[in-house]
Amino acid sequence: MATPTRESWEAAYREVEAALQSADPAQAPDLLKLEEVRVRFLGRKGSLTELLKSLKDLSIEDKRELGPKANSLKLSLDEKIEKRQRQLQVAADEAALQGASIDVTLPGYRPPRGRLHPLTQTLQEMTRILSLMGFSWAEGPLVETDDNNFTKLNIPEHHSARDMLDTFYLAGERSEMRESLLMRTHTSPVQIRAMLAQKPPIRVMAPGRVFRHEAVDATHSAVFHQVEGLYVDRKVTLADLKGTLQQFMQKMLGAETKMRFRPSYFPFTEPSTEVDVNCFFCKGQGCGICKQSGWIELLGAGLVHPNVFKAVNYDPEHWSGFAFGIGVERIAMLRLGIKDIRHFYENDARFLRQFDESLV
Ligand code: PHE
Repeated sequence: MATPTRESWEAAYREVEAALQSADPAQAPDLLKLEEVRVRFLGRKGSLTELLKSLKDLSIEDKRELGPKANSLKLSLDEKIEKRQRQLQVAADEAALQGASIDVTLPGYRPPRGRLHPLTQTLQEMTRILSLMGFSWAEGPLVETDDNNFTKLNIPEHHSARDMLDTFYLAGERSEMRESLLMRTHTSPVQIRAMLAQKPPIRVMAPGRVFRHEAVDATHSAVFHQVEGLYVDRKVTLADLKGTLQQFMQKMLGAETKMRFRPSYFPFTEPSTEVDVNCFFCKGQGCGICKQSGWIELLGAGLVHPNVFKAVNYDPEHWSGFAFGIGVERIAMLRLGIKDIRHFYENDARFLRQFDESLV
């Protein structure tokens, strides 16, 4: 606005007044339209704002007379806008409440329930049964010394049994001890650790992961799990071993489970045996899983070899014991009817979802 005279200012005032008649805030249909009205008159460049600003260019007397007029126009407009705003806000809230009615009788959302991996379930059941039979928990590291994994178990360097257990060796040596390290090929080194750490009598179980340089197929995996058992006492016999395993298998796989001992060889047991149970898939008829034999090999076992006792400074004339190593995957496959070991490691939810804790 150019520098106003009293006349031009009054003309502008009337214009604003007239414009306000046609753009009555009380009639604004919604909050957006109301805001448009506010900006048009009271915004930084709004017509009423400009009018008030231009008061400063009038004479003192004119200011005194016209100032209050302009101000009361602004105050009444403020009031109208505020009132309409409240009305519209209340209406909007009510509408929103109407649309969002809550049915308190609807059932709640059930959070999805996770479950333990079938191998974990199986392992837990195995250790539960063994602990009822008096075995206590023992553990060892996955990265073992050559000494614990082989030498102290009566498998000296260059022994041919090492071929069978060929594993993943860690590059380099632990310099201060000149010991080579490897991924343990069985849980048997925990026998050594337990005997070095405790005094007999000993009754421990050692569940855990083991590693073999092995071609993967339906029944073999390079990484799998075992539960080791070790019992050391006076006058332990093969009958103690057989009775213990029979109890365990029947609890684990059902009372009708048949078990057989086959002569075998392990450097750390003498005599040694491989233990089979009748094939659950074909009920002993012979099938692909049991290689037509009707039996499935589940574990290796035997009486602790005197050289193993010597390696941990136990007198083999005084002490005797049995040991066994059970394959967890094998047991899980039998119990759950799983025909391919690879399913356990693929983490396919469609597979895992089928095994509820209550099944085990
Ligand atoms: N460690 C043997 C294996 O992994 C199993 C075994 C354990 C055999 C204890 C005898 C005694 O094949």
